[in-house]
Amino acid sequence: MDKTLVIGANGQIGRLLIGMMALANMPVKAMVRNSEHAQKLEQLGAEIILADLEQPLPDDAFADCDKVVFTAGSGGKTGADKTILIDLWGAVKAVDMAKKHNIKQFVMVSARDAGDPENGTPAIKHYNICKHFADKHLLESGVPYTILRPGRLTDDAATGKITTQRPSDKDAMVITRADVAACVLQCLDHSEAINQVDEIYNGDMPIAEAFIKAVKGRLG
Ligand SMILES: NC(=O)c1ccc[n+]([C@@H]2O[C@H](COP(=O)([O-])OP(=O)(O)OC[C@H]3O[C@@H](n4cnc5c(N)ncnc54)[C@H](OP(=O)(O)O)[C@@H]3O)[C@@H](O)[C@H]2O)c1
Repeated sequence: MDKTLVIGANGQIGRLLIGMMALANMPVKAMVRNSEHAQKLEQLGAEIILADLEQPLPDDAFADCDKVVFTAGSGGKTGADKTILIDLWGAVKAVDMAKKHNIKQFVMVSARDAGDPENGTPAIKHYNICKHFADKHLLESGVPYTILRPGRLTDDAATGKITTQRPSDKDAMVITRADVAACVLQCLDHSEAINQVDEIYNGDMPIAEAFIKAVKGRLG
């Protein structure tokens, strides 16, 4: 069975995803930078890879994997320097390793305005630019990709329902972390998700149905 490397596995989305993958009996390697975070992920059945995105990434993290999920990020409490090092350069290094190791699908957890940083929230323009160029590097890498661009993340309970259409009301441009994790899981399990880029928000359509609709919409 395909093995998936999750980068940012101890993050809020990462932990939810690892839990969901464990329930679905999907083999998973969890990349964490702090050994103290290993135990709880190991208990869920994940194999642990200790690595820091600010350092060169180890080959053995990618060697026996078919898929990679990148859901790491420097977070809102660090400066732009860390955004460059993690959200941009860390992601670029992960994509390069995915190419080297012939990864069959790279799922990038990006951000709403990565497609058009110029018209995104001015206060986080640097963040959107980093996400933009990380996505661009993946798009141009030749590695089969799925790019998910969530709206503002919330910690509310999963709804199981999303839309890939950007809501007109800015307050509605949100999605729970649990639903993002479920979207990643959905995309890992479905080859139609390969080479797709979607914004994701909470909405009124079951997750699987929303992705089918998005793919059909693009096919015309
Ligand atoms: N917040 C929003 O509204 C929003 C909206 C759209 C997209 N996003 C994106 O969604 C993604 C996941 O969000 P989240 O809430 O799950 O984030 P999170 O909880 O902050 O998790 C980020 C993970 O990245 C890891 N990380 C940071 N620096 C690292 C390094 N040098 N080496 C290895 N790992 C490192 C962290 O490790 P530690 O556990 O060791 O700290 C953490 O586990 C991020 O890419 C974020 O930019 C966020």
